Amino acid sequence: MLEEEYEKSRRRVPPHLRRREAEHPFAYEIRPAVRTDMPYVREIYNYYVTNSVVTLDEKKWSHQQWLDKFDFLHKLALPFLVAVSPTGQILGYGLVAPWTGKSGYRYTVENSIYLGHAATGKGLGRALLEALIAACEELGIREMVAVISDRGAEASIALHNRLGFVEVGRMGRVGFKFGRSIGTIYLQKHLHSRKKRSLFGRRTR
Ligand SMILES: CC(C)(COP(=O)(O)OP(=O)(O)OC[C@H]1O[C@@H](n2cnc3c(N)ncnc32)[C@H](O)[C@@H]1OP(=O)(O)O)[C@@H](O)C(=O)NCCC(=O)NCCS
Repeated sequence: MLEEEYEKSRRRVPPHLRRREAEHPFAYEIRPAVRTDMPYVREIYNYYVTNSVVTLDEKKWSHQQWLDKFDFLHKLALPFLVAVSPTGQILGYGLVAPWTGKSGYRYTVENSIYLGHAATGKGLGRALLEALIAACEELGIREMVAVISDRGAEASIALHNRLGFVEVGRMGRVGFKFGRSIGTIYLQKHLHSRKKRSLFGRRTR
């Protein structure tokens, strides 16, 4: 019997014949992170610390470590973004940090993007990385670097390649986690800076 026929006969339609509600679209807003986001950022990051080799951290980060990182990046006015669902859930984050921390590298940053497991594979990583690139270009940053594990990080490599990052080098066996050696892949993108300013508040010319 068709669903329409059930409706006409006013009988209750069995679940397998009912029309399915349209799937909720994957919606989010990208905004600057605030200090109170750090417990959620920590939770997202620590999942990968415990379960993957995409980060070579082996010990979970504490809330205080994330607060310190937030304050450090905030002081440098570097972008630290979060993606938030319509219900307010933090779905993922993206940030950039100074490359090495030495002042001579002041026009170069390293990015870091982590999504909650359920938010992966839906275009959010791309949206966050595009937002980070745009924010860095506004700031006058010239180069963005990504340091990626050579195992288990296919999504990250694909994401960076799609956005114009090129592989500039590899180091084998420099990492060790879960009883095995891991290498790192270096990818780099030249940015088109719009301002003549740089990290640490110094003029570029
Ligand atoms: C890496 C990560 C940020 C990518 O974000 P994402 O939302 O999953 O990726 P997107 O859906 O935006 O996909 C971006 C591109 O990569 C491709 N891609 C995504 N996952 C892929 C995979 N596993 N294998 C191959 N290609 C993949 C997509 O097809 C897409 O290409 P397109 O724009 O041409 O269609 C996310 O998967 C993540 O948080 N992973 C765990 C943490 C991590 O590895 N962080 C990076 C540390 S260096």
